[in-house]
Amino acid sequence: MSTPSPSDATAHRTALITGATSGIGAEFASQVAAQGRHLILVARDAERLAAKCEEVESRYSIHAEGLVADLLTEDGQQAVESRLLSHVDPVELLVNSAGYGLGESFDKTTWDQERDHWRIHTQVPLRLCHAALSTMLQRGGGRIINVASAAAFTPRGTYSAAKLAMVNFSEWANLHYASSGIAVTALCPGLTRTEFHERSGQDTSKFPRIGWLKAEKVVRQALSDSAAGKSRSTPSLRYKTARVVANVLPKSTVERVVDR
Ligand SMILES: NC(=O)c1ccc[n+]([C@@H]2O[C@H](COP(=O)([O-])OP(=O)(O)OC[C@H]3O[C@@H](n4cnc5c(N)ncnc54)[C@H](OP(=O)(O)O)[C@@H]3O)[C@@H](O)[C@H]2O)c1
Repeated sequence: MSTPSPSDATAHRTALITGATSGIGAEFASQVAAQGRHLILVARDAERLAAKCEEVESRYSIHAEGLVADLLTEDGQQAVESRLLSHVDPVELLVNSAGYGLGESFDKTTWDQERDHWRIHTQVPLRLCHAALSTMLQRGGGRIINVASAAAFTPRGTYSAAKLAMVNFSEWANLHYASSGIAVTALCPGLTRTEFHERSGQDTSKFPRIGWLKAEKVVRQALSDSAAGKSRSTPSLRYKTARVVANVLPKSTVERVVDR
């Protein structure tokens, strides 16, 4: 699963992070800023974005720029894509974190909800990877982290199907572009304390307390695995073990367990 680390001779100075107003994306913004990189932070909520930029600028003495974009719109996608294609202050680390859950099963949602959900978790990160890779290849280096999920390895409806697509793509891209100095890592966290479940109206009281991870640790592990050129980052031994067990059990058993 590991591939050679991309050359650190390329100074990975500017990072673009989607979903940076909350949860895992906001934590990436803090930890990447602490490394001294400049930031372009993407989300829809202009006020929260400005507050996050101010916070990291004052704490880490870096430059942070907010790019307000709804990634479910063509205009929003194009704005971020253009920034990734720019050779002025090029983006050398892309983190695709924007996303949400539906909180309802496939038969209860509308088609528009399903289409947008699939789009935010697959089409949007793929489009941004496509743009980022083209400039990274010209410069001979860069890193991409696609925030997938441990759910990719269990049958959990369209959410896990979409996340599995990004894991599969990231693994291929990591192998394919390693020789060009580019690492593409799928981050596969389990339950992480963010706004994710509240936003999708999920009742978290039924989730086991032991399953919860902190965004701080998830992101620290992801940055370390990305720097090591790994194609997959699975924070915590608990979830590494769960993945191995899920691989050997019949899918029907896994579905019954995760459905509880
Ligand atoms: N929390 C977990 O248990 C968990 C586990 C595994 C994987 N993940 C994945 O981690 C990623 C981040 O989720 P999180 O847990 O950090 O959730 P979160 O706290 O709800 O953050 C989601 C972020 O995505 C942004 N966003 C949502 N829709 C957007 C859109 N249309 N355009 C632009 N930005 C949008 C939100 O910003 P605005 O509202 O300001 O636009 C927010 O910054 C997601 O891809 C999720 O699937 C989460």
